[in-house]
Amino acid sequence: MPKQVPIVLTGFGNVGRAFLKLAREKHAFVRERYGLDLKIVAAFRSTGGAMLDDDPGAATFAASPELKLETLPTWTPGLRLVDVLDGSLLGVLAETTPSNLKTGEPGLGYMRAALNRGWNIAAASKGALSVNFAGLMEIARRQGLSIKFSGATAASLPTLDVATISLSGAEILGIDGILTGTTNHILGRLEEGLTFDAALREAQILGIAEPDPSMDIDGWDTACKLQLIVNAALGMGLTLGDLAVQGIRDVTPESQRAARAEGKILKLIGRMTRDGDHFRASVAPVAIEASHPLYRVHGTNKGIAFFTDTMGTVVVTGGKSDPRGTAASMLKDIINIYR
Ligand SMILES: NC(=O)c1ccc[n+]([C@@H]2O[C@H](COP(=O)([O-])OP(=O)(O)OC[C@H]3O[C@@H](n4cnc5c(N)ncnc54)[C@H](OP(=O)(O)O)[C@@H]3O)[C@@H](O)[C@H]2O)c1
Repeated sequence: MPKQVPIVLTGFGNVGRAFLKLAREKHAFVRERYGLDLKIVAAFRSTGGAMLDDDPGAATFAASPELKLETLPTWTPGLRLVDVLDGSLLGVLAETTPSNLKTGEPGLGYMRAALNRGWNIAAASKGALSVNFAGLMEIARRQGLSIKFSGATAASLPTLDVATISLSGAEILGIDGILTGTTNHILGRLEEGLTFDAALREAQILGIAEPDPSMDIDGWDTACKLQLIVNAALGMGLTLGDLAVQGIRDVTPESQRAARAEGKILKLIGRMTRDGDHFRASVAPVAIEASHPLYRVHGTNKGIAFFTDTMGTVVVTGGKSDPRGTAASMLKDIINIYR
């Protein structure tokens, strides 16, 4: 008998829609392979929510993700998450609202409400975890629940799973990560001779960069991912303010050429170094040598290298950088919560 896993989705943008579509597509596969019957019971926008499970239009709806939540007969303006999490159901909150790195909202309120009502969490959003990592983990610990956040820590690129499972028993002495595909793509185009403005414009036209690209190009997206990885992997309580952060706005084709002349390449590196009990985390463009494990991470690819005491250097690269890849990382987290 498959285990029923109710899922409530907050945020219905690129990732939320991709998650709904993927969960429906993979439903039979996940039931057969993992014995889990995933059911997305409700989805929320900022203006309200809709129940999906009992809605006769829901199957058609999932196959046509361009449709709006408001077109469903169950759409209820003003419906709140707490109206749905009434204690009679227990499952997973799939959190995909915008990442606000200052307040953590709306994800923070949603995640607290879900944990306090006995729901696990699979998050793609970074804001809540960045602002109140320790607080959320403490509620989860008290309640015996899981918070997973692969979607917030480079998504399809396995970072947390490697750090917290594969490297168990090893000391992580350092981390280098190329954690943002957008900036890696732009730096690659600068190396080919494009100016920063032209490379950014091109990335926006291709849909690789956001209309407001500042989170990525000023280094905050990488910083936030590094913060969460370090906190989860090393049991730290880093805040975003603890990181020295520099983005890529000042990188030019000339600086890439100068690096190349020395056999190096400029990459935006999220770096954690450790000197005994003293930790330092930073984000900056760094000229890395051909022998560096991330030297050949090109285009929108990402990569992470863990430097350990007993396992040597462990490197992971690749992974899809798009909403479907992010949705797939959330699906992985949900499967791993219950398997
Ligand atoms: N795009 C990616 O590939 C990617 C990759 C990794 C992580 N992420 C993270 O995943 C999250 C979602 O990304 P996205 O690209 O899907 O962004 P998005 O397209 O802007 O979707 C977020 C959606 O949340 C809705 N929303 C805003 N306030 C809300 C509230 N109070 N309650 C419920 N819904 C609310 C917004 O629509 P309404 O205001 O109309 O409801 C919006 O459609 C972000 O935190 C992002 O950092 C994204």
